[in-house]
Parts: sequence; structure tokens; C-alpha cells
Amino acid sequence: MRVLLATNNAHKADEIRNALDMPGWEFVTLGEAGVASDPVEDADSFEGNARIKALAAAQASGMASLADDSGLVVDALDGAPGVYSSRYAGEDADDAANNEKLLRELADVADEERTARFVCTLVFVDEQGRETVAEGCVEGRIGHVERGSEGFGYDPLFFPDELAGAMTFAEVPQSEKSAISHRGRALMHLKDALSAL
Ligand code: IMP
Repeated sequence: MRVLLATNNAHKADEIRNALDMPGWEFVTLGEAGVASDPVEDADSFEGNARIKALAAAQASGMASLADDSGLVVDALDGAPGVYSSRYAGEDADDAANNEKLLRELADVADEERTARFVCTLVFVDEQGRETVAEGCVEGRIGHVERGSEGFGYDPLFFPDELAGAMTFAEVPQSEKSAISHRGRALMHLKDALSAL
């Protein structure tokens, strides 16, 4: 089975290939397959946006396709930044600007109310259009200053509960993060579901 990954992010593709290591399955990115697909992600949920990307890639290629969508959900901000995680501080915002805005919005929020989670939803569409959906999440808290230089996005501000609130995602190696991360967990669930098909 040859599956199109609805991404051009090499790092994401590697993580997916490592996690979905299944005999007979091959995963290729849009670039590797020579497919152009860049749909507007305007759904109001991670699953909705992942579905938009998976269906667009499948339509453009005729191949089975896999897409993910993920983000940070902060309780004290009624779920923000959520589906707007990558552009929280504006359309062209970078990680530094998004993190700065998050700290600003939480400036008056006490430690015990800074609970949050990363969520990742994967949508797999086979050649007949049948869907398999998998989700993963990791609970934690938002810190007060950025810590660590690994990872990306909100990692320097996120203290996962699994690390006893002592280290941020940006302070642990990628392999350790993948074992407990939202994306790692969603991929594990997807592997189970695809293996059972
Ligand atoms: P995407 O699903 O890769 O487009 O991620 C959307 C946005 O969510 C990213 O730009 C980050 O801001 C945030 N995000 C998703 N996963 C992570 C993560 O593992 N660490 C930090 N930020 C993340």
C-alpha cells in the first residue's frame, strides 16, 4: 500500500514513517509524489481540518492519503489557540510571536489554572474513500517563561504531566517527546486501527 502524506514537512514525514512502520506500507510526501495540494483549512476542529487535507490530497492524486492537524488547547482561554495555533499572533506569526501572545493572555492566570493539552487528529482515506480517524492528546500546564531549545511551536512553554511538571517539551530529546506526545499517541492508535483493517 502506497500512501500519500498530505504534508511537505520532512520532519513530520519522518516521525510518521517511524511510528507507522508496517510491512508492505510505503509513505510518500506530496513533493516526493509530485502532487500539488494546498487546500484552505477552514474547519472549526482538528478533525475537520485533517479531513480537508486528506480528501484534497486523495482527490489530487487518486492515492490513499493521510493528513494530520494539531494544536494547543488552553482551558483558561476557552480552548484557544486551538485550530488557530500556528497563526495565534497573526497570519504570518512565528513561534516566538505566538508564545509571547500566549504568555500575555495568561499573565494574570494562576499556576493551577494554566492547564492545557496538545491534541492531534489523523485522518486516513483509502482509495475507495473509506476513512480511519485517530486522535491523541497529552495533558500539561503552561509555564511563565520559555525553557529549552528542542522541538518547535509552543514546546518551550508546555510542561507535560508525564514529566512531573519538571521539564518542558523543549527540554527533552525528540524520541522522549514522541513517546508521550499527542502526535505519537495518535500515530499509535492509527497503527492499531490500520493493522486491524
Ligand atoms: P500543525 O498541525 O503541524 O499545522 O500544527 C499547528 C500548530 O500547532 C503548530 O504551528 C504549533 O504552533 C502547534 N503545535 C502542534 N504540535 C505541536 C508540538 O508538538 N509542539 C509545539 N507546538 C505544536
